Amino acid sequence: MTTDTTVQGAASGATDPGETVLDARGVTMRFGGLTAVRDVNLTVNSGEIVGLIGPNGAGKTTFFNCLTGLYIPTEGEVRYRGQVLPPKSFKVTAAGIARTFQNIRLFANMTVLENVLVGRHTRTREGLWSALLRGPGFHRAEAASRARAMELLAFVGLENKAEHLARNLPYGEQRKLEIARALASEPGLLLLDEPTAGMNPQETRTTEELVFKIRDQGIAVLVIEHDMRFIFNLCDRVAVLVQGEKLIEGDSATVQGDDRVIAAYLGEPFEDAPGDAEAAEVAAAEANAEAPTDSAPGKENDR
Ligand SMILES: Nc1ncnc2c1ncn2[C@@H]1O[C@H](COP(=O)(O)OP(=O)(O)OP(=O)(O)O)[C@@H](O)[C@H]1O
Ligand SMILES: [Mg+2]
Repeated sequence: MTTDTTVQGAASGATDPGETVLDARGVTMRFGGLTAVRDVNLTVNSGEIVGLIGPNGAGKTTFFNCLTGLYIPTEGEVRYRGQVLPPKSFKVTAAGIARTFQNIRLFANMTVLENVLVGRHTRTREGLWSALLRGPGFHRAEAASRARAMELLAFVGLENKAEHLARNLPYGEQRKLEIARALASEPGLLLLDEPTAGMNPQETRTTEELVFKIRDQGIAVLVIEHDMRFIFNLCDRVAVLVQGEKLIEGDSATVQGDDRVIAAYLGEPFEDAPGDAEAAEVAAAEANAEAPTDSAPGKENDR
């Protein structure tokens, strides 16, 4: 796939409507005696935003690592647009899958712009001699690359920070820079591992809009998140991993209403849900209570 720099419009890795972009079959990952991912099937189609949720340690990040060549699955196969993926992460990126990391991985001492330019290296075609001789072809390609990188920074809202060092960005902006860098490889599929972790509610909302915009550019998205409101607002489908296995997959309503999911995962109150109605109910109940004075209030209300 050759992709010239396009300064406008949809990303060049964009996929055709209805195309199966990702097809993971029977993916199993064992570490010694521990099976972190067991026989997971998952597809992502073009135009879709698919969520992957599950408790801590469920195997979500390990599954991403199996999709991106960081791990070679013990069993199973991963196809991107029909082709079995090579087990090397740079080749997976070149094929069209980009990702962000749960633990942010940026070049801390490079500028914001330089970080995005690094993300473009799989898409620049200038060879060694061109780079060494620094001829007109090289300068043209470099200028086009910078223009595209600036465009991507504007896309994620960081155009005014291009010359800042990555390490000086607030946490939420570092996560956005990771997204810009991932987009710089012009992917057809973007994998996001907890993109709103550490963000405040305002930043989370902006990120939600950003993910919709990415989808609208023709890039399919697979996203891991613990913020259920974010996931259920955003995703066309949600798959639930529990102890390495896929428990269920479906639209938001189906997944939210599934008893096993509630038991395994959603039994906890939604961390970020405002729960106004619930809070009002509790307040009313407390006001109407027969006021037992001798015990600590409402342990039974704790969930
Ligand atoms: N390289 C590794 N070697 C050994 N065990 C590993 C390795 N990577 C992950 N694991 C184990 O695999 C299991 C799944 O971990 P993973 O990080 O994929 O979970 P997760 O669903 O992403 O959790 P979280 O929501 O906390 O990020 C855990 O028990 C973890 O300790
Ligand atoms: Mg994880």
